[in-house]
Amino acid sequence: MSKPWAIRLATEADLDDIMQIERECFASDAWSADGMYDELTGAEKFYIVATIDEKLVGYAGLNKQPVVHQSDIQTIAVSPTLRGKGLGRDLMEHLLAEAKRCNCTEVFLEVRADNPVARKLYETLGFEQIDIRKRYYQPDDVDAIVMRAALGAAGNTEPLVLGIESSCDETGVGIVRGNTLLANVISSSMEQHARFGGVVPEVAARAHLEALLPTLNEALVTAKVSLDEIDAVAVANGPGLAGALMVGVGAAKSLAVSLNKPIYAVNHLVGHVGVDILERGELETPTIALLVSGGHTSLLLVRNLLHDFELLVETIDDAAGEAFDKVARVLGLQYPGGPEIDKAAADGDPNAIRFPRGLMLPKDMEKNRYNFSFSGLKTAVARHVEVLNTKGEEVPIADVAASFREAVVDVLVSKAVNACIDHNVPRLLLGGGVIANRRLRELAKQRCDENGIELRIPALSLCTDNGAMIAAIGAQLVMAGRKPSGLTFGADSTLQVTTVQTL
Ligand code: KG4
Ligand code: ZN
Repeated sequence: MSKPWAIRLATEADLDDIMQIERECFASDAWSADGMYDELTGAEKFYIVATIDEKLVGYAGLNKQPVVHQSDIQTIAVSPTLRGKGLGRDLMEHLLAEAKRCNCTEVFLEVRADNPVARKLYETLGFEQIDIRKRYYQPDDVDAIVMRAALGAAGNTEPLVLGIESSCDETGVGIVRGNTLLANVISSSMEQHARFGGVVPEVAARAHLEALLPTLNEALVTAKVSLDEIDAVAVANGPGLAGALMVGVGAAKSLAVSLNKPIYAVNHLVGHVGVDILERGELETPTIALLVSGGHTSLLLVRNLLHDFELLVETIDDAAGEAFDKVARVLGLQYPGGPEIDKAAADGDPNAIRFPRGLMLPKDMEKNRYNFSFSGLKTAVARHVEVLNTKGEEVPIADVAASFREAVVDVLVSKAVNACIDHNVPRLLLGGGVIANRRLRELAKQRCDENGIELRIPALSLCTDNGAMIAAIGAQLVMAGRKPSGLTFGADSTLQVTTVQTL
């Protein structure tokens, strides 16, 4: 059913009609006509009126303070003949939409303690009591209840968020609407690092600079949105390579400032975990997350995506992907080593050589139950190859690759499953580029099935570093009504996973 009233911006010409309703509604504490005139014509004020057949039946006003991202509801009044028909809610929703439009994240109001109907309405719009002003309304001696609404929660349930990721060698720009993925564009500088056998930080940083704009433009085209429609910008500010992160952070800040949109500085590792939301609509917690890439090898216990992460363990030396890359080099295979070793191992015997499993001996399990170490394994492979070379024997590349892969995967999966069992968490989530490994997926599935653990493996394009996961966390922060980050945060190469958002 369409509404019987129309809502439009108020003008000075409405003053008399407004004053008539003002006096009808507020009697003893009605504003003066001069005071109302100042409100209608003031800077940063937003006044609207509701009319039926040109007759004024209600009005409402907002005082905007966009610099501090706050607004105050100044007044709202509905002609007595139209009470209980939803006009008050409609006017309030218009004010909240305007506050949101100018990037306010909080809205405040005061309401008479003896007006339970209004208080109820404000509560259903997301307002909560934060204070009380004793005997504020005179001469009636009535208290004022001060209420606050976080606009992220109340006003924006499906924010359009653009996320930028540049922590290593992938320039990623993702766009989400709430929990829905709209675009995930990745430009990788991997080829430029191939001749060095690993990521060169300066080369990566320069590549981000060149790739950012084209990647951004492609993401906008894919998502079919324009920049001015974006509600917030999110960026990974760590952990990662400092120079590489700086490019993304700088770009995100410039975008946020030029578009006048809030910015959210997001933890890259949290992104890897939260990306699951884009496929399932929510993240089931608690969950253990195993993140394995060229830069990290971490086991996390996640109780709540936005505020409860525990780092159970990091590698004490090489990351798992790094071990793949280094061993590939020893075997004369291309960079990145992971896919090459996966390919070579396909025809090999995983039990041909028993390579060491780092920190898996009973004595290590006491002290380093979840710690990872891959440098001993890497050295063992190098020594094995060296001995064969010295003897002039051919290196059985397929067998070495398969045996090495089995050792890495065995350690990763065993420790992840142990963490699930020890913490009584029946869920394991995988993330990071190494998840592409076929044997890792296979063994994880098998061991999880054996132990009654639910295994989640996001699509590969969401497992490797990408901007969509950063946008997904940004959207969660907006929807939870979190304050945006300021503009003073920087790239933090060693950012701890306990810091979900840097303010
Ligand atoms: O997450 P990612 O794309 O980027 C960063 O490390 O930041 O992961 C890349 C890493 C590389 O070390 C690569 O060798 C490894 O993931 N990788 C693999 C496989 N595909 C990629 N490792 C093992 N098996 C694979 N199939
Ligand atoms: Zn990563």
